[in-house]
Amino acid sequence: MEAWLRYADDLGLSPFCFDRAPRSAPGVSSGSTAAEAEVIPVRAAATAPPAPAPPSASRPVAASSFLPTLTGASLFEERVDNDTLERIRSDIGPDCSRCKLHKARKNIVFGVGSPRAELVFVGEGPGHDEDVQGEPFVGRAGKLLTQMIEAMGLRRPDVYICNVVKCRPPENRLPEKDEIATCSPYLIRQLDVIKPKVICCLGACAAQTLLNTTQGISRYRGEWFDYRGAKLIATYHPAYLLRNPPAKSEVWKDLQKIMAVLDLPLKRR
Ligand code: URA
Repeated sequence: MEAWLRYADDLGLSPFCFDRAPRSAPGVSSGSTAAEAEVIPVRAAATAPPAPAPPSASRPVAASSFLPTLTGASLFEERVDNDTLERIRSDIGPDCSRCKLHKARKNIVFGVGSPRAELVFVGEGPGHDEDVQGEPFVGRAGKLLTQMIEAMGLRRPDVYICNVVKCRPPENRLPEKDEIATCSPYLIRQLDVIKPKVICCLGACAAQTLLNTTQGISRYRGEWFDYRGAKLIATYHPAYLLRNPPAKSEVWKDLQKIMAVLDLPLKRR
């Protein structure tokens, strides 16, 4: 509640203070008002190789008025049989050197949270603190993400948090195309294993990767897409919010949409 109030205060919502009904279970509620949400389908093409080779990164097909519809779509979405997070981690291996990011990284940042999470947050790539600790979103942006999660009435262990690339890009530069192409198949496998109800892309890199588009995030932020059976929404990255706090109100709207789909209570005081 305290975290929520802090975040609400940041958003300028404190005059309208909300109260939260207590959660009944440690996991995210499985009830859903999803039917109320408008969903733009994103279909996955089927070129996934058999295990242990990961599925291709550039597979989702966005069907909307502004996102490009890609070719190669299939009715069948190939997944790695009997996949698990442990298997994905071991397929990556402790010393992955598949892309140039391995040269400067300290730790591979695989992901953290509940393997049965109904909500997965996908960021861009580890920063300095994440590289040192081996855990995603533990730096300044991570603390803001934690506040956002708590503002939704959840705790970090209730959700799953991961990134498009699992090693820190030097100087926190954007991950490059070849790095994303090499690493994102493992992300796709993680999402396939977890099978969340909602995927929240934090920032353009995650959104562009999973939606297979080069369109800027502001074109589709806050809209629902269907992604391999999950509902996907893109919102601004917490690091952007640190630089541009007024955008928090837009993000809060997106989080509320997610809360509605997950049936998380928001009670007006
Ligand atoms: N930014 C990201 O995109 N991911 C992290 O894990 C940390 C900061």
